[in-house]
Amino acid sequence: MAEARGQFSSKLGFILAAAGSAVGLGNIVAFPVMASKNGGAAFLIIYLLFIAFICYPVMLAEISMGRHTNRNPVGAFSELSAGHPGWRLAGILAILTPFMIAVFYTVITVWLVVYVKEIAFGRLDLLSNESTFGEVVARPSLFGYLLGLLGLIFTILLGGVKGGIERLARVLMPTLAVMLVALTLFVLTLDNAVAGIRYYLVPDFSRMDLSVINGALSQAFFSLSLGMGILITYGSYFSQQDSISQSTRMVAVADTSIAIFAGLLILPAIFAFDPNTNTEDLSTSSVGLIFSFLPQIFLSMQSAVGYFGASVVAISFFSLVFFAALTSLVSIIEIPISCWIDELKLTRRKAVLLQAVLLSIFSIPAIMSLGISDYFTNFTSYGGVTKSFFDLVSDVFYETILPLVGFTVCIFCVSVLFRRE
Ligand code: PHE
Repeated sequence: MAEARGQFSSKLGFILAAAGSAVGLGNIVAFPVMASKNGGAAFLIIYLLFIAFICYPVMLAEISMGRHTNRNPVGAFSELSAGHPGWRLAGILAILTPFMIAVFYTVITVWLVVYVKEIAFGRLDLLSNESTFGEVVARPSLFGYLLGLLGLIFTILLGGVKGGIERLARVLMPTLAVMLVALTLFVLTLDNAVAGIRYYLVPDFSRMDLSVINGALSQAFFSLSLGMGILITYGSYFSQQDSISQSTRMVAVADTSIAIFAGLLILPAIFAFDPNTNTEDLSTSSVGLIFSFLPQIFLSMQSAVGYFGASVVAISFFSLVFFAALTSLVSIIEIPISCWIDELKLTRRKAVLLQAVLLSIFSIPAIMSLGISDYFTNFTSYGGVTKSFFDLVSDVFYETILPLVGFTVCIFCVSVLFRRE
């Protein structure tokens, strides 16, 4: 028998949980890299315009779809389109996408845990060696960390909307904001930090082209967790009495501020590390940047604050990224759970267990994809390159289907929802 549907305790609870989902690797790592490669403040201006004029309306649309129907994405699409099979399929994609994105997000979060542990054991110097990342991701001991992380996540999710998701965000979001501000202030005191700020905040319009504009739009969608059914689901936990627009604005502002702040942390740190930084070199992927480049930057601080001090800064940074990733991960995994509760009429407990089994089945091959198993490491090949199982999931769901689902929500709202009113 289905139990009462979860609900956030207040507007603040919703804002913190939605911000917890929005603030993640996208803000702390991808945004500063994109901004620096694409013309600093010029990128920022375009990004802000997209947030205000495209993403904010889409956020409102997603949240109202959820709140109005009180359902998960499959249920919401189906109810609002009066059972039209095409739109039900869009709802199914809006469940499948977070389901698969959770697989590789989990693997990256496991690496973060290992990095925090390694630094705590005094091995920051080892991590700053470029070959270490490849060695860490191929360690069979990752299974133990995976098990621990899944245990933690599913215990939080078992606590429900108020007692699990909201409680986690209430503790972690303020902690994350304080750590980010403290780390940024520290980095700004380093020599050459000003070069990074100048680079970040002085607009360079010569780098603007269509691909930069396109990049700013995808980054804005990803950063606000749009197009994945997350805000539909969180909207369904939002009280019918409270106004959506003010809370939505707060989430957008919080997410964007954290991204801008992260730029103020990472760029000055990079320039302090190497005053002659050539920003073309920053074209490393976000994952490469966190796991190979940033440990080198933190290690370089030892001349100013000693090895211990540099390790403390590195641990704070990696814990911050871990907290951001954890709150995002919980939100991604909640989407299929809400679907099992509504559509299969399972209790939360059974839905969480079902999802735990399903996620484990897919995360195990994903974690074995970077050297533990030859089969999953060389899983397939396309575009003339060998791809692992991890790459396949990331390419298909993150790079292709995610923007497609975001686009579908927009089309849906325009063609079905608004035409009916
Ligand atoms: N919005 C998060 C970020 O900026 C990532 C995320 C993607 C979270 C998808 C939930 C779902 O990193």
